[in-house]
Amino acid sequence: METKSKVTPQLMMAVGTAVIGSFQFGYNTGVINAPQNIIESFYNETWSSRFSEPISRTTLTALWSLSVAIFSVGGMFGSFSVGLFVNRFGRRNSMLMANVLSFIAAAFMGFSKLASSFEMLITGRLIVGLYSGLSTGFVPIYVEEISPTGLRGALGTLHQLGVVIGILVAQIFGIESIMGNASLWPLLLGFTLLPAFLQCVLLPLCPESPRYLFINCNEESKACSILVKLRGTDEVNEDMQEMREESQQMMREKKVTIPELFRSPNYRQPIFVAIMLQLSQQLSGINADQHRWMSYVSTVAIFSFVAFFEIGPGPIPWFIVAELFSQGPRPAAIAVAGFSNWSANFLVGMSFQYVEQLCGPYVFIIFTVLLLGFYVFTYFKVPETKGRTFDEIAAGFCESASQRADKYSAPKEFNTLRGDDPDL
Ligand SMILES: *[C@@H]1O[C@H](CO)[C@@H](O)[C@H](O)[C@H]1NC(C)=O
Repeated sequence: METKSKVTPQLMMAVGTAVIGSFQFGYNTGVINAPQNIIESFYNETWSSRFSEPISRTTLTALWSLSVAIFSVGGMFGSFSVGLFVNRFGRRNSMLMANVLSFIAAAFMGFSKLASSFEMLITGRLIVGLYSGLSTGFVPIYVEEISPTGLRGALGTLHQLGVVIGILVAQIFGIESIMGNASLWPLLLGFTLLPAFLQCVLLPLCPESPRYLFINCNEESKACSILVKLRGTDEVNEDMQEMREESQQMMREKKVTIPELFRSPNYRQPIFVAIMLQLSQQLSGINADQHRWMSYVSTVAIFSFVAFFEIGPGPIPWFIVAELFSQGPRPAAIAVAGFSNWSANFLVGMSFQYVEQLCGPYVFIIFTVLLLGFYVFTYFKVPETKGRTFDEIAAGFCESASQRADKYSAPKEFNTLRGDDPDL
C-alpha cells in the first residue's frame, strides 16, 4: 500500500510554523551557556548590593546550576501536561496558547537585570521550560498528524532540525560582540519573544490536525476538507480510512496506565528501550556540549558534533516512542519517556558545573563513553521501525517476550528485533 506523498505549500507552511516551537526549545536550551560569566557577575553584584557581602563560590555555582536546570523542571511538568491540552483544545490551539508562557518568560528574563532580581531570571527559566515541555510534545504530534504516511519520518526530523537551528542561533547571538555582553544579555534571553510572536501570527493560518477533528471531535467532513487542502488532491480516502481504523482501534483497546506499562511483559521491553533512548539523548551531553570556554573555532567543531548527533541518533527518541506503542499504551509511554528525558536533562544541567570543576575539559570524554555505550545498546536492542507498521513492531516485542518465557524456542529474537525478518 503506497501512500501518495506530496509536499504541498499548505503542508510546508503548517510544518514550518509548528517547528518554530522546536526552535524556541532549542534556543532556550542553548542560550544560557554562552553568557554564563556575565550572568554570574550579575548574580554576584545583585547579591553584594542586597546583602552587603560578596557571594560565595558555592552559592554562585548552586544558583547558576539552578538557573540552567530549572528549565528541565518546567519541561517535566510541561511534558506531563501535553495530553491535557491536545485533546481538549486541539493541537494547533494548544501550540498557540503555549506561547503565552513564552511571552511571560521573556518578560521575566528580559527585565531581571532592570529589577536587579536573579529570582526573576530563574522564574523565567522555569516558565520557558514549561513552554518547552509542552512544545516538544505538541510539535511532533501535530507534524505527525498532518503529514502523509510516506513523509512522516522526513517531516518529523524537521522538529529536530528546528531544535538544532535554535541551539545554533543561541550560540551565535551569545557571542560577546553580538548579545553575549554585560549590557545586552537581557535581550539575548528575551529574544524568544520574537519567534513566539511570529508563531502566533502564522498559526491561525494553519489548519487544525485532521486526526484531532476526526477522532476527538467526530467532525468527519471538516477533517476531510482539511486533508484535501493539505494533500493537494481530492483523493483522501486512504487517509480517512486510516483514521477510521485508528479510531475503532482506540475504542477496542483499553487505555494502559503507567504502572501497567512496567508490569506487563509485553510492554516492559519497549518501555525500557524508550527510556534508554531518552537518557542516551540527554546524558550523551547533547545539551551540555556548548560551553563558555569555547572560542569561535570550537563553536564550529562542537556544533558539527551536535548536528551530526542530531541528524544521526538524536531525533530517534521522540518519534520512536509513538512508533513502539499502539493506541492503548501510547499516552502513558509518551509521558514516561518525556519524564525520563527531562529528568536526565535536569541531572546534566545540575551536575555539569560540578563534574566540569572536577574534570575540566575531560568532561567530554565521559559523555563520549556514554554515547558509545548507548550506540551499542541501540544497535542491539532497538527494532527497525522504518517501513514497518506498528503491529509488526509490537509483534516483534511480544514474540521476544514469549521467547524469553519459552527457553526451548529457537533464538531468532535478533532477527525479529533488527527487522531482518524474511517476510519484509
Ligand atoms: C564577586 O565579585 C567580587 C568583586 O568584583 C569579586 O572579587 C569576587 O571574586 C566575585 N565572587 C565570585 C564568587 O566570583
